[in-house]
Amino acid sequence: MSRLAGKVAIVAGAAFGIGRATAAIMAREGARVIVGDYDADAAGAAAEAIRSSGGDAHSIHFDATHEDSVRELIAKAKERYGRVDIMHNNVGGTEPGKDTDVVNLDTAAWERILRLTLHSAMYGCRHVIPVMLQGGGGAIVNTASMAGEVGDMGLTAYGAAKAGVINLTRYVATQYGRQNIRCNAVAPGLIGTERANEVVLPPVRKIFEEHNLVPRNGRPEDIGHVVAFLASDEAAFITGQTIVVDGGAFIHGPTLVDMRKLGLKI
Ligand SMILES: NC(=O)c1ccc[n+]([C@@H]2O[C@H](COP(=O)([O-])OP(=O)(O)OC[C@H]3O[C@@H](n4cnc5c(N)ncnc54)[C@H](O)[C@@H]3O)[C@@H](O)[C@H]2O)c1
Repeated sequence: MSRLAGKVAIVAGAAFGIGRATAAIMAREGARVIVGDYDADAAGAAAEAIRSSGGDAHSIHFDATHEDSVRELIAKAKERYGRVDIMHNNVGGTEPGKDTDVVNLDTAAWERILRLTLHSAMYGCRHVIPVMLQGGGGAIVNTASMAGEVGDMGLTAYGAAKAGVINLTRYVATQYGRQNIRCNAVAPGLIGTERANEVVLPPVRKIFEEHNLVPRNGRPEDIGHVVAFLASDEAAFITGQTIVVDGGAFIHGPTLVDMRKLGLKI
């Protein structure tokens, strides 16, 4: 299919994981793709992999935590391909061990995590919008998380930052919709990226598998397909939304798994 034919997409944080899968899917859908990442070698390899399967991609080194660097990423993308139609703000993360409960969490880590996860998305939106307006509009997709929708015992900074991403999405959609810019978010549940598989131990992955309504854990492509759809003209009447992609893990009552273990179907 070529639902993104003629479009130029920036995927910010595209060397690994969800971003890498999204960049590959967008290229398959016909977009010219900028693979933006702070790991220059891995970004180069991701772009090369796209080119060797017949796509058009170019890697650009940048750091999502520095506003000037984000501005430069977008300017270089415009210089390379003449326009920017799609921006996927995908950089985000936490610091296991430091991002704990609110009383014990490390304040410096809180600030770094907000910068990496929330400021980065805001920088991506504010600097891509003027470039999109020059081309008549565009579509922004931010990567949120189910951690931004629910409470938990730890990851306080990450959860607060992702909740910020969800409402930033609504604000951007509200402010620029009339100028033909849509802004949506995708909220993944647990997705088995290499990085997630390193930090999320097998017993925890099993807990998610038990809570999912589909019989497996998530894969990076599960998110990439939704991002590509939201970025496409097929989603032209969708804006300000956060689409949950979690295999149903967060949709059912909290007692479901325990009831199932007891063989109860009520
Ligand atoms: N994997 C999951 O289970 C999961 C669940 C919910 C949300 N998410 C979110 O999805 C997004 C991608 O996560 P992932 O699991 O694919 O992670 P990942 O670590 O596999 O990929 C993140 C990418 O961002 C790049 N990156 C990190 N810091 C950067 C910076 N300062 N500047 C530029 N690039 C930078 C990394 O090099 C990497 O290529 C994140 O926002 C994450 O919070 C992931």
